[in-house]
Amino acid sequence: MISIPVAAPSRSYEVLIGSGLLACSGECLGKILENRRAFVVTVPPVRRCWSKVFLKSLTAAGIETTLLEMPDGESAKRLATLEQLAEKLVKQGADRNATLIALGGGVVGDVTGFLASIYMRGIDVIQVPTTVLAQVDAAIGGKTGVNLVSGKNLLGTFHQPRAVLVDPAVLATLPAREYRAGLYESLKCGIIGDTGLFKLFEDKRREILDRDPAVVEKVIADSVRLKASVVSADEREGGLRQVLNLGHTIGHALEAETRYTRLLHGEAVAWGMIAATHIALSTGKLDSVTAGRITNAVLGFGKLPKMKVQTANIVKRLRSDKKTRRGVVHFILPREIGKVEITSDVPEEMIRAAVDEIRKLARN
Ligand code: GLY
Repeated sequence: MISIPVAAPSRSYEVLIGSGLLACSGECLGKILENRRAFVVTVPPVRRCWSKVFLKSLTAAGIETTLLEMPDGESAKRLATLEQLAEKLVKQGADRNATLIALGGGVVGDVTGFLASIYMRGIDVIQVPTTVLAQVDAAIGGKTGVNLVSGKNLLGTFHQPRAVLVDPAVLATLPAREYRAGLYESLKCGIIGDTGLFKLFEDKRREILDRDPAVVEKVIADSVRLKASVVSADEREGGLRQVLNLGHTIGHALEAETRYTRLLHGEAVAWGMIAATHIALSTGKLDSVTAGRITNAVLGFGKLPKMKVQTANIVKRLRSDKKTRRGVVHFILPREIGKVEITSDVPEEMIRAAVDEIRKLARN
């Protein structure tokens, strides 16, 4: 088992990573859950595959455990779901000593984390992510939230978990598209700050796509290490944590413009990373060889979904993104493999050209 510390100012905790860890969760989490009731929040597909082994291990360790289900999918990431879960918690007698466990992907983690942060003014949460996206990104760092009709993640809190338990073996049952989409967030970690991880994607692409257990475990552990170091240094996104938004500036606009129906989040980030690379190249901040390596690494996972978007609409959406401050659009631009820069002075023609470029690629 690999243990990676996260030392955020509000709480320090460990991310435990190991194949088959779900079956040992009672041992791993026993100390944290001692004398506490655990409420496991999950969605039907995850319950069917993984709740039995997880609950069996917790129960064997003497932990009183209750399973709560929420609907699956991004549309469940709203306040109404939080309220329904909270009512169930009250009915089940959950008090301030209860611990919530999020067993699922990013939506389950965000909703459960948010609920834990406000239920009875805040109770503990443990994250047990079951998708690549959640294992390498969403479950670590304490961001929680739900969507509004007006936009994604517009309500939320920072609420660090007591622990994160990552079992890469659960990825075996993930649909291929979802698996691949999560990998873009991991590749992002390589571009931001880990040349070894980036090279792993170049050298072992086939093994990663074929879900070779040893290689996948390394990809996840390296990504977690990068994320853990960033959130330890800047828990509340005052500065450095913004680097994790590489590809997200244009990615969020693409997701919104296609009404969250065309692209998975990771796929939108993939297009966004290609656009950011194009901007970095145009501004002279990145050389063409490195730009080619990044673009090839992104496109090397296979075809991204096609989309029809208007450049002008994307530029308009950039201005209303929650990451935009006082009308100034911030970009994270790669400078070299393993190094990015946060910038706000990208001329609009360059943004337009980058969006045109991905529109062209998205047609082929
Ligand atoms: N997903 C970006 C962050 O956690 O800051």
